[in-house]
Amino acid sequence: MTNLWSGRFEGAPDAAAFEFGASFRFDRRLFQDDVMGSRAWARALARAGVLSAREVAEIDGVLASLLARAQADPGFVSGADEDVHSFVERSVVEALGDAGRRLHTGRSRNEQVSLDLRLYLKRRIPLLQRAIAGVVRALADQAEAAEDALMPAFTHFRPAQPVLVAHFFLSHAAPLRRDFERFEAARVESDALPLGSGAIAGTSYEIDVDTLAHDLGFSRVVDNSMDASSDRDFAASFLFACSLTMVHLSRVAEDFIILCGDEHHFFELSDALSTGSSMMPQKKNPDPLELVRGKTGRAIGHLVGLLVAIKGLPTGYNKDLQEDKEAVFGAEDTLGGCLAVVQSVVHGLTLDRGRAASAASGLLLATDVADYLVGRGVPFRRAHEVVGGLVRKLVAEGRDFGSLSLHEWRAASDRFEGDVVARVTPGASVMAKRTPQSTAPAAVSARLAALRNWLDGQGVC
Ligand code: ARG
Repeated sequence: MTNLWSGRFEGAPDAAAFEFGASFRFDRRLFQDDVMGSRAWARALARAGVLSAREVAEIDGVLASLLARAQADPGFVSGADEDVHSFVERSVVEALGDAGRRLHTGRSRNEQVSLDLRLYLKRRIPLLQRAIAGVVRALADQAEAAEDALMPAFTHFRPAQPVLVAHFFLSHAAPLRRDFERFEAARVESDALPLGSGAIAGTSYEIDVDTLAHDLGFSRVVDNSMDASSDRDFAASFLFACSLTMVHLSRVAEDFIILCGDEHHFFELSDALSTGSSMMPQKKNPDPLELVRGKTGRAIGHLVGLLVAIKGLPTGYNKDLQEDKEAVFGAEDTLGGCLAVVQSVVHGLTLDRGRAASAASGLLLATDVADYLVGRGVPFRRAHEVVGGLVRKLVAEGRDFGSLSLHEWRAASDRFEGDVVARVTPGASVMAKRTPQSTAPAAVSARLAALRNWLDGQGVC
């Protein structure tokens, strides 16, 4: 049990309470960031005239060797220290004595922990963004491979209108692309240097925070030291980005769980990403997708947990804020694992063109029949009523539009001509769409090309 504040107290802290408050078990993940922050802080102290050039060189040498040791043996970053900051500082003091004891001059762990988490997110967010782009690419590849294949689109999970299978894949790529941008915003929010804030009021040493920010790769300095000591908005934004991305992955999972099942079977899951049943030999289960759907609750839980931890805090740092790290790491791990598995599942899907196309035909062409009448001058509301009547008759007789004789068509409306059957097909339905966001084949190709362009721009081809 080792701590940085024993001078104030008589005797040792209660062992169980110390253990309860310690964070080293999980904040060791910030080791690299803590070391980088401490190296830059030593340089800033030298510029402020607090440390000599020689002392900085010694401190820097020890910190660099700590990093190297940790790289060679991750188990090195462990022990009885209260947190990662204590571990790093103790190691420097053990190596250098008084020069090491000067490192914490003008600095507080309150700003240090904020610094470390900001540095951590700045380096880790781009990895999640890459993984998101990987899923987008798998969806774009499937969209391209689907060519002109058709499937039904659903509303209220009832067949609604025919769409290109490519349009469906791109409908899942679009939210993930927004997630990518949302992570970018979270990265920018993290990109502010909190050092110079001290414990709450700022620091009385001549620290050039702009140079220090530049040294650590920050594009700006925080506005207010009191705010900075307890600001975890950047962590909440990160957790929101994780949660919403998980929600989107969960919807991808749900769609393929259903659409790969025997009832629909528009797609087939790769055997390698499916599981069997211990009892029922015929089963091919989508466990990886179910786990993605199931784990979404964790990410949302981490977001809610942090928001609730923050909401009642009085001004300034409070230990409650230590809860931020397990939330961030947990959400990051959950999302990272799910992105990898969803990319593999999407990549491994096989399209059953026949099943998908035949489900895109039949009564879900009703809107196109109504549009046909509108083209013949019938007001839409009236056309809707005529076609509704036809649908009611067809449902009762177990038939669909293709089986209607011209006589029957004309009994419903004398505006129907002999061309209606050829005009009302799933292929004609998608071709008839006119807007750039629609399922019209030319529009879908243009959107796919734009998406490929974006992926190229992210270095993901
Ligand atoms: N382990 C602490 C945390 O994660 C570091 C900051 C400690 N500051 C303090 N005043 N006790 O928040």
